[in-house]
Amino acid sequence: MCGIIGEIGKVNVMGDILEGLKKLEYRGYDSAGVAVFTDAGVRRVRAVGSIAALEEKLRNDAPAGTLAIGHSRWATNGKVTEANAHPHRAGKFTAVHNGIIENAAALKAEYFAGAAFESETDTEVVVKLLDRFYTGDVGEAIRRTEAVLTGSWALGILCDDCPGTLFAAASGSPLLVIETGNGRCIASDAGAVQDPVSVTKLENREYAALTANAVTIYNEKGEPVQKAPLTATAGALTLDKGGYEHYMMSEIMQQPEAVRRTLAAVPDEDYIRDAREIVIVACGSAYHTGLVGARLFESVRRIRAHAEIASEFRYADPLIGPGTLCIFVSQSGETADTLAALRLAKEKGARTLAIVNVPGSAIATESDEVILTRAGREIAVATTKAYSAQLAVFYCLALGKTEALGRLPEAIYTAIAENDEKCRRVAERIAGCRNIFFIGRLLDNAVSQEGSLKMKEISYLNSQAYAAGELKHGTISLVEPGAPVIATVTDETILTKTASNLHEVKARGAFTIVIAAKHLADKIEADLTLTVPDVGPLLAPSVAVVPMQLMSYYTAKALGCEIDKPRNLAKSVTVE
Ligand code: M6R
Repeated sequence: MCGIIGEIGKVNVMGDILEGLKKLEYRGYDSAGVAVFTDAGVRRVRAVGSIAALEEKLRNDAPAGTLAIGHSRWATNGKVTEANAHPHRAGKFTAVHNGIIENAAALKAEYFAGAAFESETDTEVVVKLLDRFYTGDVGEAIRRTEAVLTGSWALGILCDDCPGTLFAAASGSPLLVIETGNGRCIASDAGAVQDPVSVTKLENREYAALTANAVTIYNEKGEPVQKAPLTATAGALTLDKGGYEHYMMSEIMQQPEAVRRTLAAVPDEDYIRDAREIVIVACGSAYHTGLVGARLFESVRRIRAHAEIASEFRYADPLIGPGTLCIFVSQSGETADTLAALRLAKEKGARTLAIVNVPGSAIATESDEVILTRAGREIAVATTKAYSAQLAVFYCLALGKTEALGRLPEAIYTAIAENDEKCRRVAERIAGCRNIFFIGRLLDNAVSQEGSLKMKEISYLNSQAYAAGELKHGTISLVEPGAPVIATVTDETILTKTASNLHEVKARGAFTIVIAAKHLADKIEADLTLTVPDVGPLLAPSVAVVPMQLMSYYTAKALGCEIDKPRNLAKSVTVE
């Protein structure tokens, strides 16, 4: 969470910094700010809200310079105010920070008791420490500061005494050193920088000094280190909105291609060989793909498997070890809880496999084996194409590359084309409701969890997903007349069961919507039916999720919500 960028070049870098911040905005959009080395020294400009608010502030008074840093914030310590916006400044130092300094309060008490702070942030403590430890050598100040910090950080640093050097330091938060045709940059994500020529990742407690002519990376002892640049890049499908109003819709439309590319890229290897049991660990939507994966491993491969939420798993002292295959799923490859869970699994001797969309990310790098999804860069906070690409990997792992799987991209395309307009109309009906329920059994339940998350994440309506048979054990009391209940039915063997549950809610006045595999549509009664292509029950989550995504999108749109950047959220969750 939080995006940082910095550049040193030969001409004014402010345009690049602002463009980069727009690409990093998915990491947080509570506030934004820049600091530029001008002829008159370092100038800071900060604004609450999006980069557009910062640009507005810069419109009539844009400082220029060849060395600058920038930040887009997702608030962790301190409210969303201009005083808490980065960059922060103390003495001769100005810095932007992504991460959390866990011992900030203790450091404040130890080093700065009684001193005035202009913000409530942990970052200001870091900048003050840099200034406190500075005796003319910035590298030494960074080393001494890092030596007392606990937590995670990626820092872009300016020192008043060094108008020709951009400093960077990292531990536990991603930070890339990027050379381009025009200059040298640091960024939380390579996608923030135009035309990268080489990308190098700072490992824990490494720091870097970038000048217009050279980059030097140091280890924590201050010794220069030679590092190989990363080879893989994010493999963008498209970085613009492709003519759509929102990234989310553009990304929904890219799903057939994301799945096609992913299927083509998964190696023909039996990754689950020798596994006595499989535990899939992830957060949010990635966890929801794990629910599908686990069910497939058990029902098709007959290997004991279950999915766990990473933030629970990491503190649960799980019963895993040699013989367990732990699969970690993450779009960003940075999610703090998933990364911690991966490290725990390795400590316990389990074999680890990561399914990740961002090459070079921490989870991709640290796992024993990795399968990259090929969804390309995903910008909308609500994931769509990455979810679909993750599902595609689970299909390859559990079923192998079958012919039916090869036809899945086309089926996803049909699901979009046949449901887009219908979902827009359904959404108008849903937008006026307080509570929405998703129900289904087995894989239909797994995909319903995702549909419900999508709905609440971007429309802010209360939405819950339940195993269809579980409703009458309590939740049915919430079903009021007119409440939408969305049932997914793609498996004929359990159709009559879910149909009965739908009758039960209908009897209590619910407005019933069914998402049905085409050949089952006539076999289940509802107020409204949406159909998805017949791909068989095992692959059905990939097509059933499409109307759920579209309904969520159009409901959020009807309610005037900020679709790509829902309130309180960020794309990568790098705090626990
Ligand atoms: O980057 P990750 O896949 O690890 O992120 C996990 C979740 O934060 C993410 O899937 C989240 O739930 C989505 N915003 C949901 O749309």
